[in-house]
Amino acid sequence: MAGALLTELAAVEAAAPLRNMVTPGGFTMSVALTNCGALGWTSDRRGYRYTGIDPLTGQAWPPMPQALARLAREAAQAAGFDGFAPDACLVNHYLPGARLSLHQDKDERSYDFPIVSVSLGMSATFLFGGLARAGRPLRVPLHHGDVVAWGGVDRLRYHGVLPLADAPHPVLGSRRINLTFRRAG
Ligand code: SIN
Ligand code: FE2
Repeated sequence: MAGALLTELAAVEAAAPLRNMVTPGGFTMSVALTNCGALGWTSDRRGYRYTGIDPLTGQAWPPMPQALARLAREAAQAAGFDGFAPDACLVNHYLPGARLSLHQDKDERSYDFPIVSVSLGMSATFLFGGLARAGRPLRVPLHHGDVVAWGGVDRLRYHGVLPLADAPHPVLGSRRINLTFRRAG
């Protein structure tokens, strides 16, 4: 399954290249990202938002491959969230040392649908916190092929990723890829 996903991702990344975006605070993200689907998540000095057009290419984001949308729907269903039809898939690439600080996913129009996360390549420590930034988040190891869904009363939990250690993966080498599927619009 991972092999088919990687082939789909290569096509997405050819049409919408990975890039390191700047946050509203002026920092360049250590994670490189792109998107597929009708909407894509972007950041720049003006803020975070979803757009239908990739600001780098001026074109629509590449469509979400059917196999990916189906995987996300089935994973959501298995976690108890029916009827998940994602319109955005954020593709994050982590190299050793890359991290994602604690944040809430709240740029989506509604919080009625879950977030579904698929991890590939190097392992990472996922931080799963509470509804406030304070407090000690749970540390969840995520390995190649792991799928996580959070929604409902947990939808706005703070989460993040600790700086990645360099423990190369047999297929992907010194890289981690994470896909997050959302209903953004
Ligand atoms: C995210 O919160 O957008 C990504 C989480 C991850 O990389 O596991
Ligand atoms: Fe997130």
